[in-house]
Amino acid sequence: MPETKTTSAVIEARHMTVHYGPKPALRDVTLCMAEKTVTAVMGPVSSGKTTLLRTFNRLIDLAPGARVSGSVAYRGREIYGPGVDAGEVRRRIGMVFRTPTPFPRSIGANVAWGAEVNAVVGRDDIDGLVERSLTRAGLWRDVKDRLNDSPAVLTPGQQQRLCIARALAMQPDVLLLDEPCAELDPASSARIEDLIVELKESCTLLVVAETMQQAARISDVAALLLEGELIEVGETKTFFTRPRDKRTEEYVTGRFG
Ligand SMILES: Nc1ncnc2c1ncn2[C@@H]1O[C@H](COP(=O)(O)OP(=O)(O)OP(=O)(O)O)[C@@H](O)[C@H]1O
Ligand SMILES: [Mg+2]
Repeated sequence: MPETKTTSAVIEARHMTVHYGPKPALRDVTLCMAEKTVTAVMGPVSSGKTTLLRTFNRLIDLAPGARVSGSVAYRGREIYGPGVDAGEVRRRIGMVFRTPTPFPRSIGANVAWGAEVNAVVGRDDIDGLVERSLTRAGLWRDVKDRLNDSPAVLTPGQQQRLCIARALAMQPDVLLLDEPCAELDPASSARIEDLIVELKESCTLLVVAETMQQAARISDVAALLLEGELIEVGETKTFFTRPRDKRTEEYVTGRFG
């Protein structure tokens, strides 16, 4: 995908509205993600958090009847524009889901898969890429002697790191993580949170945070969605200490959500 315009925003959505049915799941969302930052999005159940992530890497295309209007640009190029290859968008903008979902293949094959399918590197270098991706995900030492084993031998936290390694093997520019620690114990969650902050050196990240405390720990920018509307987005500390919108204040003080 050629870059057509220089802009400091990695992803920039303007007046983005998303429908699955008659009622919009996201309404007139405007959000800009700067290079090498972590943006945390929060909101109650069904507020549109997952939809936001899916819209940013065109996984929404797979939902029957879903419609996106407004502008969504990745490095200055409209990702819903004519001639854009959705597969290429998904390679550049990777996603990790709430439930760790390793494929029913070996640990090594899980990581090699993304690279092979997308021909990111030549075949000869796949082993190197698997090692580098697992190292970046903080899992290499745990699994280097059992790359041929099934991921079922791993703990849920390790499985989630395996899914992150698989996403990293595609050498993404942006990573979208949807409540990546929701199903993990506190120690595994802490490791994933540390990893998110480390990955900021090489990627731009958008994370659906499970809690406000998590958002405060990991993010540079925090955002609140309510019923499909982006109520507030701002620098994390300011978001929590001096929110502009009354609804954000109510949310951060635990009055709803
Ligand atoms: N594939 C789909 N088809 C139809 N409606 C959908 C689909 N996916 C989501 N929705 C609807 O869109 C709205 C937003 O859903 P979404 O999953 O984005 O919210 P969420 O904030 O991620 O919720 P949760 O906290 O449960 O993860 C909800 O009303 C949901 O029912
Ligand atoms: Mg969700």
